[in-house]
Amino acid sequence: MNNFSVGLGTAAIGRPLYINIQQNVREIFDLEIFKAKGIEVLETAYKKGIRYYDTAPGYGLAEELLADWIKTKKDQTIEVATKWGYVYTANFDPNASIHEVKDHSIEQLIQQWEVSKELLPNLSTLQIHSATFDTGVLENEAVLQKLAQIKKQYHIRIGVTTSGDNQVDVLRKALEIAVDNQPLFDVFQVTYNILEQSLATILDLIKKKGNRIIIKEGLANGRLLPNPNYPHYLKLYNVLEQLAAKYEIGVDAVALRFCIQTIEPFMVLSGASDSYQLEENWKLNNFELSEEEIKQLQSFRVQSTDYWLERKKLKWH
Ligand SMILES: NC(=O)c1ccc[n+]([C@@H]2O[C@H](COP(=O)([O-])OP(=O)(O)OC[C@H]3O[C@@H](n4cnc5c(N)ncnc54)[C@H](OP(=O)(O)O)[C@@H]3O)[C@@H](O)[C@H]2O)c1
Repeated sequence: MNNFSVGLGTAAIGRPLYINIQQNVREIFDLEIFKAKGIEVLETAYKKGIRYYDTAPGYGLAEELLADWIKTKKDQTIEVATKWGYVYTANFDPNASIHEVKDHSIEQLIQQWEVSKELLPNLSTLQIHSATFDTGVLENEAVLQKLAQIKKQYHIRIGVTTSGDNQVDVLRKALEIAVDNQPLFDVFQVTYNILEQSLATILDLIKKKGNRIIIKEGLANGRLLPNPNYPHYLKLYNVLEQLAAKYEIGVDAVALRFCIQTIEPFMVLSGASDSYQLEENWKLNNFELSEEEIKQLQSFRVQSTDYWLERKKLKWH
């Protein structure tokens, strides 16, 4: 495992509010300052050697910010994975009640692709943003055909991202989909962390065909960082703090390291909202957990249904 297994997720730098546990008080929102802070995070990542950036039109200004920043780098080794299927609707209003709207229609795919393709040639991956059974996206022939056409014409990878207590079923279904006898999906961006380990049950099947696995929400949206609102994780927090002290890093690095060692993904995404957090997350490269420590952390998995029930209760901060 090397330093290049860390990618930067841009959800937290594209919108003033994001689903997290927000333990710090945030300043009054200023769009220009927010953009400058976002660029700073992109630069910090680049200086660290990160060359994989995950974004989406649903992340407010993130995709555009990334596209503009990439133009200044002129570096073909920067790889971008974007998504389609969510529309950002909050217009940077911290008081908005609806932040994003899901739309898995063929019209939305066509519309968002017209914008996202500006990221070529750095664009390597187009993913369905949060593929689920209820939108019928994995059975929508027009969508599947269009994705296959994009894949062929632009030589990029097509992926799914998954969330929810049935993410393993969605992954299984996605793995079966073929267009013109060719598997359509080769990138699988999945929620995985110490609490939600269901991905492990389908790991071999995904990896068998050389597919890429990208880990998201490796910190359970911040719930893995010790905090009094989740007293039921106290035992886990104690173990994480002991390991953090032993390796002289933060709890965040321990939790992300766990993802790398147990899944060996193509990438684990850092969801850092500022450069400090990114520097801290990056320390996952400084140490290795022992087999015994991994086993101990694995024992803290919870039922997927419970995990996603708690996840649903998280607010936009
Ligand atoms: N496809 C999808 O549906 C989907 C869904 C979610 C995420 N993603 C992708 O995955 C990426 C990562 O996901 P995520 O951001 O939800 O996951 P995460 O890593 O579980 O959580 C990130 C949050 O943890 C907190 N954090 C990180 N490092 C910290 C530190 N050192 N100290 C204190 N707090 C720290 C920050 O919260 P604060 O903001 O409160 O400081 C940050 O926003 C996203 O950027 C996005 O690209 C995709």
